[in-house]
Amino acid sequence: MIPTEVIRRKRDRERLPPDEVRDFVRAYTKGEVPDYQAAALVMAIYLNGLHADELHALTEAMLRSGEVLDLAAIPGVKVDKHSTGGVGDKLSLPLAPAVAACGVAVPMVSGRGLGHTGGTLDKLEAIPGFRVDLEVPRFIAQVRDLGLCLIGQTATLAPADRKLYALRDATATVDSIPLIASSIMSKKLAEGIDALVLDVKVGRGAFMKTEARARELAQTMCAIGQGHGKRVVAYLTNMDQPLGLAIGNATEAIESFEVLKGRGPGDVRELTLVLGAEMLVLGGVAADLADGRRRIGAALDDGAALERMRRCVAAQGGDPRAVDDYGRLPTARRRHDVGARAAGYVTAIDAEGVGVAAMRLGAGRQKKEDAVDPAVGIALAKKLGDPVAPGEPLATLLMNDVGPEPAAALVQAAYCIGPAPPAARPLVLGEIR
Ligand code: URA
Repeated sequence: MIPTEVIRRKRDRERLPPDEVRDFVRAYTKGEVPDYQAAALVMAIYLNGLHADELHALTEAMLRSGEVLDLAAIPGVKVDKHSTGGVGDKLSLPLAPAVAACGVAVPMVSGRGLGHTGGTLDKLEAIPGFRVDLEVPRFIAQVRDLGLCLIGQTATLAPADRKLYALRDATATVDSIPLIASSIMSKKLAEGIDALVLDVKVGRGAFMKTEARARELAQTMCAIGQGHGKRVVAYLTNMDQPLGLAIGNATEAIESFEVLKGRGPGDVRELTLVLGAEMLVLGGVAADLADGRRRIGAALDDGAALERMRRCVAAQGGDPRAVDDYGRLPTARRRHDVGARAAGYVTAIDAEGVGVAAMRLGAGRQKKEDAVDPAVGIALAKKLGDPVAPGEPLATLLMNDVGPEPAAALVQAAYCIGPAPPAARPLVLGEIR
């Protein structure tokens, strides 16, 4: 494999032989190909795309660049869920224990928030003591014994992706469907799962702004998974407004606990039911989606899912009393209401604007290395279609060290108020199997 020849071929839109893709990724991971050559290749891929066999070879090479977990010691079908990320998307927190309580094992390797989107690990770490850095043997043992474990990406899982993602971040090549699909799927396949449910968010607060691009990404990821012999189902879900009412870390953990108590916002419960039902069908414990939905609903309503969450928190070093006594979670010292400037109905909420506002308060990260404040965030008071009177709070900022500006102005600008409620858009926009 001659690196310049691989780059030239992709530049000239020739098809790369799979073994050259594999050798290039291997050499890059070992440091034998320098960053500047890998950057040139990812830019050529960004511009010219990848054929299905090149995509398969790239994913396979990244997946095999590190450890592939062996979950054979865990009986049954192992099913994970991956979301492409959004604002207020805390679904993993209610979903994993609900699915586990219904008898399907969930080995979940999650990520941190970046930019306007939040991350599951940051929300879990808001629970005092909760550890997401467990060693692989402990992760496997906990999934076997408890049916779920939620950790962060280990250094040994798909290291080629870690290196390439950082490179893409620095070279404006993140936003490419084949590169995103292979990046996500290499990490998910390295978890050793049997099946996967993908939640591909669409809209202003999502990575994919249009349904057409979200569908293309979903189809590409499903094809990669199926090419690796896994059952993969993708849902396209609406991210035109934040999910639920809470945006932040401790505050999203609380909202998740509420859903686990059979309460919480309707959209968070609904997506937990939709994705959970699919996970139960893939896991072989539900006869069909209606049966799966009924089982997940029952686990949320009868306390089984909540009890599984308490046990998971305790097993991962966290304080299980925080699941019931929210005073044990970090709490912001100051609050600031953002009031409506006009009377009418909420016709749009720019989820990205609200996500950026939460980040500016310290709930999220501008750069990968930034720390987050687990206590701060935003509590929405109004959602799409709600009536508002002048001065009535649209949202409350939860603050510690950072003042209300510019977050208040960002939230104010994110809300559009009009004379009539907007036409309702469904939460689930489509599915790909
Ligand atoms: N998330 C990933 O894991 N990889 C990407 O390329 C984009 C988002």
